[in-house]
Amino acid sequence: MKSQFLPETPFPSVYNILLLILFIQFPSILGNNTEWYTSCTNLFSCGGISGVDYPFWGGNRPQECGHPGLELMCEDSTPTIEIMNVKYRVLQVNPGSQILRITRNEFAIKDICPEKLVNTTLDANLFEYASGYVNLTIQYGCPSLNIPVPAQIACHINGITYQNVYVVPGAQGPGTCRASIFFPIHSTAFGGITEELSILGQVMVSGFEVRWKVDSMQCNECRNSNGRCGYDLKSNQFTCLCPGNQASGRYGCTSTSSDENSSPHESMVVSGTHWFTC
Ligand SMILES: *[C@@H]1O[C@H](CO)[C@@H](O)[C@H](O)[C@H]1NC(C)=O
Ligand SMILES: *[C@@H]1O[C@H](CO)[C@@H](O)[C@H](O)[C@H]1NC(C)=O
Ligand SMILES: *[C@@H]1O[C@H](CO)[C@@H](O)[C@H](O)[C@H]1NC(C)=O
Repeated sequence: MKSQFLPETPFPSVYNILLLILFIQFPSILGNNTEWYTSCTNLFSCGGISGVDYPFWGGNRPQECGHPGLELMCEDSTPTIEIMNVKYRVLQVNPGSQILRITRNEFAIKDICPEKLVNTTLDANLFEYASGYVNLTIQYGCPSLNIPVPAQIACHINGITYQNVYVVPGAQGPGTCRASIFFPIHSTAFGGITEELSILGQVMVSGFEVRWKVDSMQCNECRNSNGRCGYDLKSNQFTCLCPGNQASGRYGCTSTSSDENSSPHESMVVSGTHWFTC
């Protein structure tokens, strides 16, 4: 009965060839742990920021060196990051406090008339606002009422001219105006803005601070065991890239006799708990 399948025997050999290509060719084309260990040693530098490590990738750091949502780009010596399809300029990176200072890319150039009308929203899985930030709304194309916070300026946005611009606290809609956007500002800047709109331009250029939520505990353990922090794109989680021919893993690298700087105690981590061997 099964002999009727015998003419198909050439096919397994075709699969064998495909498997050989997959398992032998692709690792050498796409990179392997040893290569990632080496390339994740590269730090991201661009314009005014330098030495940026995990959880960021981009530039000379392959995707395996950081969280998928945290790609840094460098355009004309300007470091940028895209969050919820909006491009931000990166002004500062503070790994210790896990804080990024960013500004809407177009605001940094054009003050309060953006290129596109888009509300500033964060990816809540990755970021949260640093403390002290509140929303501010700019309304465009407003009726010329005698309200204390108007700007008799025109914004040309996407081929449309909006005559009057108003600033109102909180995250609001356009109300009686034609369009609106909201974005975060530090509460200490609030008073000045409502008195003088030109301050708003300065506040927008100086940007705002967000905290990245990626847990640093595993990465610290990894570094302590001589590993480099990386990201396993297949299992979609943190991985520790290890030196030599060691396999990568989630909880740091196993110490060898040549790893004199690493503490063997710290490589023993079970579910986030340290187990000290005495
Ligand atoms: C990883 O790539 C390097 C450089 O191409 C190669 O020398 C090494 O043998 C590879 N290791 C594995 C485990 O495939
Ligand atoms: C601004 O408002 C939006 C939408 O209500 C909210 O998600 C965000 O957290 C607010 N931002 C700040 C800094 O409070
Ligand atoms: C921003 O959010 C407000 C409130 O949710 C909404 O009314 C407004 O249309 C939004 N602006 C843009 C440009 O999407």
